[in-house]
Amino acid sequence: MKKIDVVARILEKKAKDVAQKEQGLGYAPTNVAVCKYWGKRNEEINLPMTSSLSVALPNKGAGTHITWYDGVQDAITLNGETVDNKSGFAHRLIEFLDLFRETRQWCLRINITMNLPVGAGLASSACGFASLVLALNDLFSWQLSLRDLSILARLGSGSASRSMWTGFVEWVAGFQEDGMDSYGEPLPFTWPELNIGILSISDKPKPISSREAMQRTVNSSALYANWPRKVTQDLIILKQAMRSKNFPLFAGTAESNALSMHATMLSSWPPICYFLPETIAMMHKIWELRQNGLNVYFTEDAGPNLKLIFLEKDAKSINEVFPHIDIVKVFEV
Ligand code: PMV
Repeated sequence: MKKIDVVARILEKKAKDVAQKEQGLGYAPTNVAVCKYWGKRNEEINLPMTSSLSVALPNKGAGTHITWYDGVQDAITLNGETVDNKSGFAHRLIEFLDLFRETRQWCLRINITMNLPVGAGLASSACGFASLVLALNDLFSWQLSLRDLSILARLGSGSASRSMWTGFVEWVAGFQEDGMDSYGEPLPFTWPELNIGILSISDKPKPISSREAMQRTVNSSALYANWPRKVTQDLIILKQAMRSKNFPLFAGTAESNALSMHATMLSSWPPICYFLPETIAMMHKIWELRQNGLNVYFTEDAGPNLKLIFLEKDAKSINEVFPHIDIVKVFEV
């Protein structure tokens, strides 16, 4: 099954007799996984080995505005700056758009606005692809369901399948070979006191892409065999903790899940290490704070930055210890 076949299947479901518009708009929040997606069972159409679970950061994300462009290539801007079509960023985007056109019979002007650093492990590709898919749905008046749009976004970046909603979202791995049962699903839990704090350590692009890192982990890490078991267990515990609002159980499971994912990477060959010395120093700081009674935990993705997990009542103390932290109230409307 090729990406283009998945697109054809989904577009069979689009609304009939609706006119294309002059422009399309989409906004998608970024998401932070509390149970990580790490490893693909199908590299071509981004099918994960396991399910994963995230929480969206409603005010951090990507807005995409697209219009028809009378040129021979798409024209892309990111935060108002022209993007070179030879760059990796443009290449991924144009290749994705090619899935929706047989030849370059049409081109787009694509303006993306993002309020987070690109490629630094803050899920910029997740919100980027999700917002692009929403903008395409608007431009072509497809009127597809969010579930179908989640499948399309998944083809751009796996974690983008979870960026179609705010709140808690599970990306169900599915088992079909065509991936039609592998999409995001919003979960019926809210937790108004939940805060996530972004502790930026470096905004430099990551040394190795998550795609390559996942592939290397699956192929060479002896610890990877245990990862699906860990995920199955953590998903059960996380849902139980969300239901009963057991914060130490929830955030502790998220931290342990992230560290287990990084352990599988460290045991790959050649090793993959997204930690910087400052990342480790901050982890120790968090463990020390916790020993002293402050309920703060962390998670980390494919980059050196940490995302702190804590409750609203502790936000002031956290801000005092980490004055540069960017705090997001996850369920704020
Ligand atoms: O969707 P990708 O290919 O950018 O991979 C995301 C991987 C992690 O951020 C490390 C984990 C996750 O579930 O978001």
